[in-house]
Amino acid sequence: MQLDLSKWYRTLAPRTTVLVSTVDKKGNTNAAPFSFVMPVSTNPPVIAIAMVSTRHTLANIRETGDFVVNIPGEKMLSQLWACARPLPRGVSEIKESGLIEEKASKISSPRIKEAIAWYECKLRAEIEGGDHLIVLGDIVAAESNDQQENKPLLHIGGTDFCLPGQTVKAE
Ligand SMILES: Cc1cc2nc3c(=O)[nH]c(=O)nc-3n(C[C@H](O)[C@H](O)[C@H](O)COP(=O)(O)O)c2cc1C
Repeated sequence: MQLDLSKWYRTLAPRTTVLVSTVDKKGNTNAAPFSFVMPVSTNPPVIAIAMVSTRHTLANIRETGDFVVNIPGEKMLSQLWACARPLPRGVSEIKESGLIEEKASKISSPRIKEAIAWYECKLRAEIEGGDHLIVLGDIVAAESNDQQENKPLLHIGGTDFCLPGQTVKAE
């Protein structure tokens, strides 16, 4: 079966979904979900996220040079969805969605308290990637809250998400 090339990535699913939190130079915070996400280096630790150039997240990262990758658990689904709304620049999706922001340990961007893990990142580079820009972040601090029962959300497409379920072992 031929795939529609404009929607090819839909078969590359489910995808890890993160909530990226940032702050602009005036101190306004922001958060948005991203699922075009991948680890690209272990030592040094580097993460890549593909962002459309108009994202406020990207504008904030350019202003401060840092961002937090929050790993949302299943209990955050409705707030994560609310953070995808196109609010005006300067209006915080974190506050509007009822999430709690807290100080990160090494960077200016806030982290989101309800997440199950946090990667504090400093902008390493931006790479042109077609209709997205690939933002590379050096992870300068990482922490998890040990809530194993709060499973990470995986995005299938549109409003559909799934949770990790059965584990199968390779032999
Ligand atoms: C589950 C999900 C995954 C998304 N993944 C991406 C992504 O990888 N890259 C991107 O540019 N936008 C992605 N978006 C869209 C942005 O989250 C959305 O446009 C958001 O309003 C951007 O906010 P900002 O302008 O405050 O950064 C995704 C949205 C959802 C709901």
